[in-house]
Amino acid sequence: MDVVLYPDPRLRAKNAPVEVFDAELAATARAMFEAMYRTEGVGLAAPQVGINRRLLVYNPTGKAEEADLEIVLCNPKIAWKSRVIEPGREGCLSFPAIYGQIDRPIAVKIEAQGLDGAPVTLELEDWDARIFLHEFDHLDGVLFTDRMTPADKTRNAPALEELVDRYREKLASS
Ligand code: CO
Repeated sequence: MDVVLYPDPRLRAKNAPVEVFDAELAATARAMFEAMYRTEGVGLAAPQVGINRRLLVYNPTGKAEEADLEIVLCNPKIAWKSRVIEPGREGCLSFPAIYGQIDRPIAVKIEAQGLDGAPVTLELEDWDARIFLHEFDHLDGVLFTDRMTPADKTRNAPALEELVDRYREKLASS
């Protein structure tokens, strides 16, 4: 399982709800964690591995040995978010070596389903809330570059153009 890089159109495609909670779904989530740890990320959304479903995984430590902190969410919804917003530094596995300051609510309440389809509710703050909100954006085809400040957009423009060039070269050679 490979991480899809910007500007792959699967990152902007519509994501269908998860409807089947079977062993295949669990295996997909497991493979997403492996891909996430391999690329030193803390979260990954299904469209980032080319699966256009409303599924995301994260581990705030980014450490495979801290598997008890792994979270898998299917069909997540934001039930509440704080009005207080704070900027924080973010990267994205679909944008290697690109970083920016992104404004996010500092706390959220989430309603979702687990791998077995059972309801899950979570209250997240700070770093955990930021990770969730970044991955949740992916499920709506929203990328962190969309939320960058004009200054960060300008600073990252050459690196983004390089990703577009690489994507075009890859398409042309396949
Ligand atoms: Co991302």
